[in-house]
Amino acid sequence: MTEQTVRAARTLQGSVSLPGDKSISHRLAILGALAEGETELRNFSSSRDCASTLDCLERLGVTVQRDAATVRLRGVGLRGLRSPRGELDAGNSGSTMRMLAGVLAGQPFESVLVGDASLSRRPMRRVIEPLREMGARIEAREGEYAPLRIYGGRLEAIRYRLPVPSAQVKTAVLLAALFAPGTTTVEELVATRDHTEIALREFGAPLIRNRRSVELEGQPRLEGKRFLIPCDLSAAVFFLVGGLLVADSNLVLPNVGLNPTRSAVLDFLLGVGARIRILGVEEINGELMGELHVAAGQRLRGGTLARAQVPRLIDELPALAVLGTQTEEGLRIRDAAELRVKESDRIGALAENLRRLGARVTEYPDGLDIAGQQKLRGAVTDSFGDHRIAMAMGVAGLIAEGETIIRNADCVDISFPGFFDVLARVSE
Ligand code: S3P
Repeated sequence: MTEQTVRAARTLQGSVSLPGDKSISHRLAILGALAEGETELRNFSSSRDCASTLDCLERLGVTVQRDAATVRLRGVGLRGLRSPRGELDAGNSGSTMRMLAGVLAGQPFESVLVGDASLSRRPMRRVIEPLREMGARIEAREGEYAPLRIYGGRLEAIRYRLPVPSAQVKTAVLLAALFAPGTTTVEELVATRDHTEIALREFGAPLIRNRRSVELEGQPRLEGKRFLIPCDLSAAVFFLVGGLLVADSNLVLPNVGLNPTRSAVLDFLLGVGARIRILGVEEINGELMGELHVAAGQRLRGGTLARAQVPRLIDELPALAVLGTQTEEGLRIRDAAELRVKESDRIGALAENLRRLGARVTEYPDGLDIAGQQKLRGAVTDSFGDHRIAMAMGVAGLIAEGETIIRNADCVDISFPGFFDVLARVSE
């Protein structure tokens, strides 16, 4: 368990090299495995989570070649996965476990998905229920938690309304639907990230998108192809917040993913007065990407984040909580109870850490009130084993007086290996 020390920074300058998008990398790897022919994924996420997905796919008989940031998969087709020897380990990755549960539900063999201590405490009934409705038999500890033992088989198409706004659940159902004859429909009352829908179409699946639902015709032929993955906006946000808060900063973040179902953080920051320029936007393989320029020195109003905004910036809330302490009116976060079942209880972890740094914070079951205009003082903080909490505290350390220690900081590898080196490189 490593500890990181971050000192107050004078300024942040330069161009930031970010990892490929984690959400998109998981999906393209899984679909590439199920496609016919070769799939090449450039700028594949260097995260430990995406490595967990690749490891599981290899155990299922897929040939995966990893060459720096390029991953090549030899697709086995919808019927080509092999019964794995031993358990499939999703590590810390909720996406790996939930998405692969969808794929495994459609296989003519039994498999067991396991995860680390954090993942073994996260809710899985949300994927078990729809997959059972489709015809899979799944056993879980207390009916809710990993290990998941999945007895796959013939599946039926269903119509499913998501009870929680979760792109992982939507994806699990759509992946299972690939194996079910007929049309599966997934309805969502609140829009969640649509990378799966985009990727399915890119691989050639017949998918119909309506305002609040998607329909997928089962048993399509998926064609392997080449992709360029954008950099991860959920990693960029730590540098956006740092760049806005540390005096005289000027940062450039190239090739960042700007998918509108993910980019509510930019709408929010621009809305509170942040100076962020978005340049050279283009669409590649169905996903938007562009270059972000961020500069410090403006007044940031603060405000409320709630309701339908929340799923569109759920992973950015730890970074925004730090920003909230420096706004004029502070930040209110509501309707975000999902934060309590992420890699850590992020509401509890943020409240605890921000208080240690001297900020005034009130905790609610579904959010936080973070007072604005707070002077942060360096202190000992803890990641609680959660990569986004570790990175948020890294950014808090840049603006806190003196020295901030982040305990258990090595978990940044889960989404952003080398985060603290990149941060040090742009800090003066
Ligand atoms: C993800 C969806 C979100 C997000 C997670 C990645 C995805 O989770 O928090 O980091 O790639 O689909 P939920 O869909 O469970 O809300």
